Parts: sequence; C-alpha cells; structure tokens
Amino acid sequence: MILVTGGAGYIGSHVALELLLSGYDVVILDNLSTGHRDTVNNIELIKRGCEQVGDLHFVVGDTGDKKQLIKVIRDNPIRAIVHLAAFSQVGESMLNPGKYFENNVARAINILECMVQGHIEYIVFSSTAAVYGEPQAIPIIEEHPTQPTNVYGASKLMVEELLRWYEQVHGIRHVALRYFNAAGADRSGLIGERHEPETHLIPLVIQKVMGKRPGLTVFGSDYPTPDGTCVRDYIHVSDLAQAHILALEALFKGMDSRLYNLGNGNGYTVKEVIDTVGQVTGQEVGYELGARRAGDPAILVASSEKIQAELGWKPHFPALNEIVASAWKWHNLPGRK
Ligand code: UFG
Repeated sequence: MILVTGGAGYIGSHVALELLLSGYDVVILDNLSTGHRDTVNNIELIKRGCEQVGDLHFVVGDTGDKKQLIKVIRDNPIRAIVHLAAFSQVGESMLNPGKYFENNVARAINILECMVQGHIEYIVFSSTAAVYGEPQAIPIIEEHPTQPTNVYGASKLMVEELLRWYEQVHGIRHVALRYFNAAGADRSGLIGERHEPETHLIPLVIQKVMGKRPGLTVFGSDYPTPDGTCVRDYIHVSDLAQAHILALEALFKGMDSRLYNLGNGNGYTVKEVIDTVGQVTGQEVGYELGARRAGDPAILVASSEKIQAELGWKPHFPALNEIVASAWKWHNLPGRK
C-alpha cells in the first residue's frame, strides 16, 4: 500500500490513479485545501472500469497533523509514501513566504518523522524545476547549479536537503522528481488540471476559448527565443505520474537515493501553445501581448536522459497537440465544476 499525500490535487490524482492501475493499494491523504473530493470520486469511477486494480482509501487530513499521520500509518500497511501535498504558486510564495515554508518544509519534516516512527523506508518526493532558478545551460541536467529565484523553489530544495539527511541518519531512501511543466489530463477526461485561481498557461488558453475568461495576455514577447515568447517543457501529467511508479519500484529493488528531472525534452513557446490550442479546438484564440511576468526565465527545458537511462522512463504523449487535446477533453467533461 502506498500513501499519496495531496492525492486529490492535479498531479497527485494522476499519480494515485497510475498506482491503482499498476495494482497498488493506495491511501490518499489530502486536506482539500486545493484538492477536490470529486476528483477522488472520479478516480474511483475510472478504476471501476478496469481490472486488477488496487483498492483506494481516502482520508481527509493534513500533513501538519502528526497524530493523524501516525494513525494512518498504523492503520494501513504502508510501504512507501509519495509526497505531493504542497502549495505551488510561485507568485503567492513571494508574497507570503511563511505560508510556503510552513506548508512545504515544516510539514515535510512531520512526514519524515512519522516515517521514522512507522518504519517506512521509501519516499518519492515531488520537487520542481524551480530549484534551478535562471538556467545557465539548456537542456537543464540534474548537475545544474540550484539557485532558486522564488520561495516556492527554495522550499522544495530545502526538502531535497532534508531527504538527504534523513537518509544519512535514518536510512530512508528517496527519489526526488523535479517536474517541469505538468500539463494535460488522464485519457478518461474525468480528472485534470483544476487550480483556483488558475495561473497556468494551457488551462487559461482553453478557458479563453470556452468563453470563461475575457482576456489572455502573453507575458513578454521580447525574450531571446524564436518568436520572443517564453519556452517551456510541457510534460503530460500521465507520463509524469508513470515516473513515480518506476521510481518506487526501483527503490523497492534496492536502488539508492536519486534525483531526476522530469520533462519531455521539447520546448514550446507561449505562442506555439496558443496556436496548438487553436488547432486542437478549431477556434481562433484572441490574445494580447503584455509585459514580462517577474521571475520568468526565458527558456526552461529539461534533459530527462538520466531517468530514461536509469529507470527506463519515456514519455508516451510527447506531442503538444496530444497534451492539449487531453486537457481539452477534460475541460469539456459534462457537468464539470
Ligand atoms: N504565461 C502567459 N500568460 C498567462 C500565463 C502564463 O504568457 O496568462 C506564460 C508564462 O509567462 C510562462 C508560460 O506561459 O512563460 C508558462 O507559464 P505557467 O504559469 O503555465 O508555468 P510556469 O512555467 O511559470 O511554472 C511551471 C510550474 C511551476 C514551477 C515552474 C518552474 O507550473 O510549478 O514551472 O519554473 F515552479
């Protein structure tokens, strides 16, 4: 059984689903501050249509509540934790650093302490490309210096450091996955990206097309990139989720602790993303060119060679139009809230 913290959120729900489909029993622990109960219900729905899947348990709870964490660990035969519960808005992290250090760092300490008490030996941690800061070379390899330019990235880097110490002192082995731009949705169209407020490019463009948003601004058109807009590495969320299973299984087989970038290796500009949404939806997307957003690096593209070579991971949905099409399907789910 695997404990997935933050399993009612965007990435967490896809990780929980992939684990279930791989036959693992899963406990989702989520305080529903940014996750959604109906996301968990929809995982259950998807699971019902599949054979040889694991059991899903859902606990509404907070990683800050040590007593409850210990109880979850005591009540369930948990072999490993996939820890995704965190705040993830870069802009907000710069306005309210305490909120990010408390939630993302202090609560990670809680989890690690409970792992020690509960004799849980393995953890897969959701880290971020934001640990690198302004890239000095593209594609970004894992040895690239880590100099986060925002509190969100700093908070994730601190947890990576904690993981190293808990390994040295307590023997807890870990894989930290540094995500680039997670995008898209499960093929069922039942779970997908749902942030409130939404700040991410692909859902914003789709909402614009759907008439749910009056405007769309491209943040900066004077970057040193082919069309002047920022380049990002969009990775399908189901490909990203798959990497967690490979990481866990490698740890179970005795692999030592590692960290990996997780991107698709292809960079797309903001304008290319907007054009792709236009092609997939068959609609013209209106937008305006605006000022740069503070803290945005011009280009962020991952080298995922290490995880490909060591864990045999490879993206199954590398094409941007497939990623956008899956997101489009999710946004058109009848009755979607
Ligand atoms: N963008 C726009 N207009 C918008 C929203 C976004 O032009 O309305 C641009 C951004 O400037 C950026 C690109 O679209 O160039 C992608 O922006 P997102 O906000 O979708 O994603 P980010 O690249 O900013 O953020 C991602 C992850 C973060 C992580 C960060 C690492 O979502 O969690 O990469 O730098 F921290």
